[in-house]
Amino acid sequence: MAQTLNSLRIGRLQGKNAVVTGAAGGIGLETCILFAKEGANVLMADISGPGLERASAKLKQVIPSHNKVEVKTCDVSKESDIQALVEHVDSWGGVDVMFNNAGIMHADDADAVDTPEKIWDLTQAINVKGVWFGSKHAVLSMRRHKKAKGSIINTASVVALVGSATPQLAYTASKGAVLAMTRELAIVHAREGFRFNALCPSPLNTPLLQDWLGDDQPKRHRREVHFPSGRFGEAIEQAQAVLFLASDESGYINGQDFVVDGGMTKAYVTPEGDPLPAPTNNALLSTPVDTLHTV
Ligand SMILES: NC(=O)c1ccc[n+]([C@@H]2O[C@H](COP(=O)([O-])OP(=O)(O)OC[C@H]3O[C@@H](n4cnc5c(N)ncnc54)[C@H](O)[C@@H]3O)[C@@H](O)[C@H]2O)c1
Repeated sequence: MAQTLNSLRIGRLQGKNAVVTGAAGGIGLETCILFAKEGANVLMADISGPGLERASAKLKQVIPSHNKVEVKTCDVSKESDIQALVEHVDSWGGVDVMFNNAGIMHADDADAVDTPEKIWDLTQAINVKGVWFGSKHAVLSMRRHKKAKGSIINTASVVALVGSATPQLAYTASKGAVLAMTRELAIVHAREGFRFNALCPSPLNTPLLQDWLGDDQPKRHRREVHFPSGRFGEAIEQAQAVLFLASDESGYINGQDFVVDGGMTKAYVTPEGDPLPAPTNNALLSTPVDTLHTV
């Protein structure tokens, strides 16, 4: 009997080993869920141990048919932590996909006059050095395991592309560094088959921004007026892009500033009217997400 295309479908990341930092929530968790759904083995890393436990329990609840899913606490600003994280995957066969996603936006980050130096240094240590260490050890793992291809995705931001009059100078500088670093890494490692792309999200409905905005309506409105869709982005919308960049489907995409912003950075005047509906993040579900048919 003829099989339908759907029944022949295998996961888009079947058999790949993926490491995700900042995996306890937001973009990181949604990405881990999609990676697991598409057949990857996933190592979830975050500075928050309890956050990781909650996140991995959620993943296992919504993707009961997952392959390997493990957790490891890690401070991405410490090279020894990143090295241990990546080496954990040696027994799995080495890293195929590295998502350097952990990042902070500190409440005391401000403009050129008011940003404290220690906040500047902390932000660069996590957002920039963390991405460097993650990239470095991913390359070393891929070489160790003689990989002919690999995908490294580094989370930047649209603030690396457009100026913001609501300043967070240390954060903005750190994301500009991620873009420039990713571009150079992409070119340096191109003949090894290791691709590097930067994800540039617009403002999102995740704790990183929403906790900071709180109930301050004028502060929210300052941002919302710039969204063509009329709403903040959702983590799952970023995760879908990361899945594509991680998979072989994006094999000829390298060194890009991959902008996922609902058109925000292309808008001059935005539409009026009701905001568009938002998709539901998988982490909000309590029943299994449709699993894949495998051959
Ligand atoms: N939320 C937004 O509006 C937005 C917009 C553009 C870019 N980003 C970027 O997206 C990435 C993910 O953020 P999110 O929106 O999912 O927010 P989030 O706060 O939900 O996730 C960030 C995660 O990083 C972890 N983390 C923080 N410091 C760490 C460290 N030193 N080592 C390891 N883990 C650490 C946190 O515990 C948290 O789980 C960040 O790099 C952020 O800068 C977010």
